[in-house]
Amino acid sequence: MSITTTRLQSMQPTDIGVDGPTPFDMAKAFHSVRRDPLSFLRRVSEQYGDLVAFPVPGPPALLVNDPDDVRHVLQEANRNWVKRTVQYGALARVTGQGLLASAEPAWIEHRRLAAPAFHHQRLEAVSDEVRMAADHALVEGLGHLQPGASDVVDVAALTHHVGLGAVGRALFSADLSGHAQRLLDATSNAAGLVVRLGRSVLPTADWAPTPTNMRLRMTRRRLDAITADLVAERRAYGRGGPGSVYGDDLLGLLLDSGLSDAQVRDELVTMVIAGHETVAAALAWTLMLLAEQPDVQDRVREELVELGRPVSMLDHRKAVPWTRAVVDEALRLYPPAWAISRRSVGPDMISGIDVPAGTMAIISPWLVHRRAASWSEPLAFRPERFLGAGTGRTGYLPFGQGPRLCIGREFAIGEMVVVLSRLLMCNRVSVPSDWTRPRPAALVAVHPRGGMPLLLTRLGPGRG
Ligand code: HEM
Repeated sequence: MSITTTRLQSMQPTDIGVDGPTPFDMAKAFHSVRRDPLSFLRRVSEQYGDLVAFPVPGPPALLVNDPDDVRHVLQEANRNWVKRTVQYGALARVTGQGLLASAEPAWIEHRRLAAPAFHHQRLEAVSDEVRMAADHALVEGLGHLQPGASDVVDVAALTHHVGLGAVGRALFSADLSGHAQRLLDATSNAAGLVVRLGRSVLPTADWAPTPTNMRLRMTRRRLDAITADLVAERRAYGRGGPGSVYGDDLLGLLLDSGLSDAQVRDELVTMVIAGHETVAAALAWTLMLLAEQPDVQDRVREELVELGRPVSMLDHRKAVPWTRAVVDEALRLYPPAWAISRRSVGPDMISGIDVPAGTMAIISPWLVHRRAASWSEPLAFRPERFLGAGTGRTGYLPFGQGPRLCIGREFAIGEMVVVLSRLLMCNRVSVPSDWTRPRPAALVAVHPRGGMPLLLTRLGPGRG
């Protein structure tokens, strides 16, 4: 067989007998796929079912929607399904080989190093920091409201500030004022570039002078310079603590563990990207759902008042079950991480169908969470489905599944509960008069397109 024939063959889609859109359908849908990938994925899954093949050259690209198949890829056969995908390639161009984008075997070492930063004692210890981040953003965004007064406020902007402040305080403690603040801002901007790279249909060489590549190079240089300052300062002054030279925030842990400066940079940028937009988006959608259903909101407030003390990062486990159920259900309807991708190292079988090495699996928590076969009234906001141990959990993966489960899961849920408590104890949130739900925009996380304008009313001392 000639080289040309081999190359032509590798350009042909591998036919594995799974239905899906034709190349013509894809060409027709090109703009809508880019503009609104969630609606496109919903349409193809409605049309072709739980396993959909996209017409790509070479090994198949499959949308995998059945919870059993999802568990197979992410959990049971996870060693065969790795993160060598366009999505993670794009991310790695900003984060380097940080924990989220890193592939096995290096990954397990990264995970072991970062784990102590997310231990329970550590979460308890950062409760005050997270509460302060929330209060700070609330005073800035809502401080103008007198008791009884109302205003329409973009809560998406508000939760963005809270998310950035909370992750910053947890990662860098009190360093937040100087270099850390610059790092948070620069990383937040870099997230936009990750989205562009992940979406480009034709892969471009890293060195090609495209506008995105040039902006990326500038952003990376900026991130390098800021982390260098941050690390140099911490190395010079230390921070100390029990068993630590450099302090028990994430920056301290990474420096104590002997990582190189470049590795520390990759982990810090990873945590900021993974940790703030996701929580911010989740909070904005949660507030929308609570504004639409005042009875659910009242029950949250009653539970928080009954607790009789400030909520901490670990209270979501037992002390405030209704608030926790609200968070779980909001993450079901609006999971910020809308697509998880993997590529197979060797051949495997999905839904009884043989798939070759190199197959790409796309799993969308957004679709899995709205699957009518798994959830009764899938589009209804009903927190009670999460009350009681283990109820309603099949096909639920806002934080992923298997060994690569989100390391920040407890942190994120804890933060959401703390922020909701700070906001709802003093304010009522409702929908403005001409209300229509913002459409979701699938970026690094699923954000409300154009923000989330909600009516906030400052409660008086009698909470009226
Ligand atoms: C509501 C908030 C969050 C959501 C919905 C979320 C979602 C996810 C998902 C779905 C994954 C798995 C990705 C995959 O398997 O391909 C993941 C992994 C990860 N998340 Fe989160 N996340 C959230 C908050 C956070 C926070 C607060 C942090 C850190 C401060 C964080 C750091 C990470 C890291 C480092 C990984 C990679 C873990 C590994 O591969 O070992 N996340 N997250």
